[in-house]
Amino acid sequence: MGSPIVLGIESSCDETGAGLVRDGRLLGHAIASSMDEHARYGGVVPEVAARAHVHSLRPVVRRALNEASLRLSDVGAVAVTTGPGLSGALQVGLAGAKGIAYALGVPLHGVHHLAGHVAADTLEHGPLPDPCTVLIVSGGHTALLLVRDLVRDPILHLGDTLDDAAGECFDKVARVFGLPYPGGPAIDRVAREGDPRAVSFPRPLTGARDDPYAFSFSGLKTAAARWAEGHAGRELPVADGAASLQEAVADVLTRKAVAACAEHGVGTLVVVGGVAANSRVRSLAEERCRAAGIELRVPPLRLCTDNGAMIAAVGDLLVRAGAEPAPLDVSIDPSAPLEYAALHPLSARSAGGAKEVAA
Ligand code: KG4
Ligand code: ZN
Repeated sequence: MGSPIVLGIESSCDETGAGLVRDGRLLGHAIASSMDEHARYGGVVPEVAARAHVHSLRPVVRRALNEASLRLSDVGAVAVTTGPGLSGALQVGLAGAKGIAYALGVPLHGVHHLAGHVAADTLEHGPLPDPCTVLIVSGGHTALLLVRDLVRDPILHLGDTLDDAAGECFDKVARVFGLPYPGGPAIDRVAREGDPRAVSFPRPLTGARDDPYAFSFSGLKTAAARWAEGHAGRELPVADGAASLQEAVADVLTRKAVAACAEHGVGTLVVVGGVAANSRVRSLAEERCRAAGIELRVPPLRLCTDNGAMIAAVGDLLVRAGAEPAPLDVSIDPSAPLEYAALHPLSARSAGGAKEVAA
């Protein structure tokens, strides 16, 4: 008997994902997205997302099992995103995961969503080297990390964003440019027709006295909005604006990530999260890593954005590391900081107990 098959469930935002992983190998996965239902509001509507998860969870788990030619009874452990994310959305995934784990009598593991993004890469490129530098760039987070053993060691933050996340910057500027939601892929698409040198957008926090690994994207967002306003009454050269914005974001992200590898003597850079799907982020990271003699790892596009396979990947690592499962009354943590890959916020009972002690 090898290690158990781990079912991973992701429901932190607008994607319902289920994935099956064993021994670092992806056996099957499926995703349903409520993106289209949010498009007309220009952003994710939490209630709509939560309701969509209720409808999608069972069919998505079923599709993942079918793709892997497995039955539910083959599942030996369940991993689920318990944070960070939208609280109603997280609740639905956790309730479903608890039901399955309880019915099957198998362990349940609470997983940090961002650790899932990191682990996604292992499904394509194998175990992560220890140590590696990880650049996480998603819609809600931008962080530069030093990762040792992803499920055993604490995750060290070299730098984080002081304001907006990189994906948030793309999403908000896309709106100002009149591009559809989600903005990142739309900017990436129209940028192909534009000139990245057309507009000289700022490169925030890249001065000699700035924190070398901290990020800031709200000034860049404002600069892009001002540039668009400056065209009032005239046609906006959207392609040039998009290409120039994308160049600024890719430049700052990759410059800082490569510098972190060099300073810490780390030979591998892993770029993960939704914005790792960006074509310019990928190509510039490749160019700069090659020049610096750093190995670059970026998950394939389908594993960059939110999915259940990445949560199963963390679950599989936890199970094989002999991690303690979460209690069945474990709760969600919508604003969990990334400290460890396993996320076991206090269970309802012990949280209540802690409060009684405090009072
Ligand atoms: O990781 P993810 O799927 O969800 C979060 O955990 O936030 O990331 C979503 C973010 C959104 O901001 C989206 O606009 C951005 O990733 N994104 C992209 C691309 N594809 C997705 N940004 C730039 N270029 C892309 N090709
Ligand atoms: Zn994500």
